Amino acid sequence: MFQGKHVLVAGGTSGINLGIARGFARAGAKLSVFSRKQDKVDAALAELSELGGAAAKPFGGTADVRQAEAVQAVLAAAVQANGAIDVLISGAAGNFPAPAVAMSANAFGSVIGIDLLGTFHVLRFAFEHLKKPGASVINISAPQAFLPMALQSHVCAAKAGVDMLTRTLAMEWGPAGVRVNSLVPGPIDDTEGMKRLLPDPSKKEALARTVPLGRLGTTDDCADVAMFLASDAARYVSGAVLPVDGGWSLGGAHVAMGHMMMGG
Ligand code: NAP
Ligand code: COA
Repeated sequence: MFQGKHVLVAGGTSGINLGIARGFARAGAKLSVFSRKQDKVDAALAELSELGGAAAKPFGGTADVRQAEAVQAVLAAAVQANGAIDVLISGAAGNFPAPAVAMSANAFGSVIGIDLLGTFHVLRFAFEHLKKPGASVINISAPQAFLPMALQSHVCAAKAGVDMLTRTLAMEWGPAGVRVNSLVPGPIDDTEGMKRLLPDPSKKEALARTVPLGRLGTTDDCADVAMFLASDAARYVSGAVLPVDGGWSLGGAHVAMGHMMMGG
């Protein structure tokens, strides 16, 4: 479905973002990924080359999304390799659970820098390289954007900002024929984000009980929705903030209570 389309995934070298890159590679897209660490880039490229087949040689580069010049350079190199960008996915993020009073200014700023300023850099500097009209931009957000969560003040503030960037740039870029949406993963199993927030795997079952659909998510669940958002089927969808969370963000405690009342 995405045969020959250039799909660029910022932070696309592990977890959910790599899962999304895999989905597009299987669908025939030309992939570009970048993140900070060369070893992660190399491993992702090896996987994506295999999925895409011999004809689709993916591009990989390194850049820290907090550094405007590095982002500009890696985007230019990706476009040189794969042409104008059809689908841009911005998913680089950092997280650690900590009370606000245990965070230095640099700790709070590191997450704001990666998630929010980083998303601005990626979108801002990719705009000139987007295929216009027709490009689709997807920011990877988190439920913390609209659900306050203890030990997550930095992530809540950063991802709320990301969703507002989604909405404001959907307004600014709509006239150029560029759609901008947020994909909001819920608790996705076997990811770095989940390991950091819930390091004890024996608690996974209890968490799954707070999801109306009764299970944790997979990276494929996210990839399928990213492909929908990037496809022509979503041609009239822009500025949307779309949870991919089995209904988890509808509420934790009262969902669990509902399950109990239903005999679960
Ligand atoms: P992950 O595997 O750690 O993915 C983060 C990616 O971003 C990695 O490729 C990482 O590679 C890159 N990255 C981190 N800092 C960067 C920086 N400063 N510059 C450039 N790249 C950077 O984590 P994940 O759990 O799959 O999360 C992926 C996305 O989903 C994030 O946006 C996260 O907020 C969102 N999300 C996750 C969950 C979940 O359940 N896991 C739930 C809701 C939302 P390098 O280390 O090489 O830089
Ligand atoms: N509690 C309080 N402060 C913490 C912390 C914690 N658990 N972990 C890190 N910090 C602080 C550091 O002490 C430092 O502050 P300081 O300079 O005042 O001491 C600040 O955060 C930045 O840490 P550093 O390791 O120098 O930053 P970095 O830029 O190398 O890494 C992080 C950024 C901290 C977000 C790191 O966890 C990371 O790279 N994460 C990417 C992967 C990830 O989080 N995946 C899940 C995505 S949902």
